Amino acid sequence: MTKPIKTVLVVGGAGYIGSHMVWLLGRKGVDVVTLDNLSSGHRDAVLHGQFVHGDIADRLILDKVFREHKFDAVMHFASFIQVGESMQDPAKYYQNNVVNTLNLLNAMRSHGVDKFIFSSTAAIFGEPEYTPIDEAHPKQPINPYGWSKLMVEQALADYDRAYGLKSVCLRYFNAAGAHPDGLLGERHDPETHLIPLVLQAASGRRPHITVFGRDYDTPDGTCIRDYIHILDLAEAHWLALQHLQSAGESAAFNLGNGNGYSVESVIQAAKRVTGKTITVQEGQRREGDPARLVANADKIKQQLGWEPAYASLDAIVEHAWQWEYNHASGFAGTKTA
Ligand SMILES: NC(=O)c1ccc[n+]([C@@H]2O[C@H](COP(=O)([O-])OP(=O)(O)OC[C@H]3O[C@@H](n4cnc5c(N)ncnc54)[C@H](O)[C@@H]3O)[C@@H](O)[C@H]2O)c1
Repeated sequence: MTKPIKTVLVVGGAGYIGSHMVWLLGRKGVDVVTLDNLSSGHRDAVLHGQFVHGDIADRLILDKVFREHKFDAVMHFASFIQVGESMQDPAKYYQNNVVNTLNLLNAMRSHGVDKFIFSSTAAIFGEPEYTPIDEAHPKQPINPYGWSKLMVEQALADYDRAYGLKSVCLRYFNAAGAHPDGLLGERHDPETHLIPLVLQAASGRRPHITVFGRDYDTPDGTCIRDYIHILDLAEAHWLALQHLQSAGESAAFNLGNGNGYSVESVIQAAKRVTGKTITVQEGQRREGDPARLVANADKIKQQLGWEPAYASLDAIVEHAWQWEYNHASGFAGTKTA
């Protein structure tokens, strides 16, 4: 019988995705230690377990945390996440997303922890050659952010072969939505994700939303993306954890809900859900924005039994709106980065 998962280290657990994961682990009865440097996270988003304020660049902190707890596994959400910034300042991305991640993996090795769940990304695929994108799709990132994640995926394959460190890489498409009870939500600064940006335009925190191009080869001419609800994402991590805990092999899975939604349909959903007027500004296409990015998530469905519970765009937008509506004024002066 598989041993129960007792204690997990969540690195980056004060961030958007990590904080929902910490909450879910609490619901599953797992003890959690969150390690986060709060470079973009929020202390008040950690709703369960112990919080350690620290950086994975710091070997002394890592040693202390691993000495004080016996972890069944490590979940790693900590990285820099802005594609555009990674083009301007690649060193920042390779340092934090690759070098610091190796630091974390080496601390795990020193302390005999051999299960790792990694936040990878659709950005490892680069320009899609076909869509929906499955795991076999060629991996040719077009920015340092994507490369930094692919490099870690490669390191993880080598760490398994040489040291027996087992890992699951989950390649998210667009994480979206918020906790259905309004407990947690997305608080990036700057915000670069479409759904919160559209909702900020609805709440009045932004004057408008810009649509970058209406001449794509899609039914309404705007880009199509795959939005996965944050709790569906967290549930996939839980299944991945159980997979490793029951002696499963290392694996990589694409993770999206498999439905593509256009920018225009997100704006329409936001109008429906909020009942507000949303001012739209037309912009030029942005370099490196493919027309369609949609996941083929069959592998994780078949192998781990994952199914999205909140696949509809309206559910995703509704939960995100509840968060924006309740917190818009409170966030106005919040420094987050
Ligand atoms: N949000 C998405 O749609 C999306 C899509 C694909 C992949 N991802 C990946 O998922 C992960 C989480 O994304 P997110 O949206 O929650 O980002 P986020 O910025 O909200 O969370 C990242 C967290 O990591 C912390 N952190 C960063 N560097 C650290 C360090 N050196 N030491 C300790 N803590 C550190 C930050 O303070 C923050 O709390 C990232 O690795 C990201 O690349 C996110």
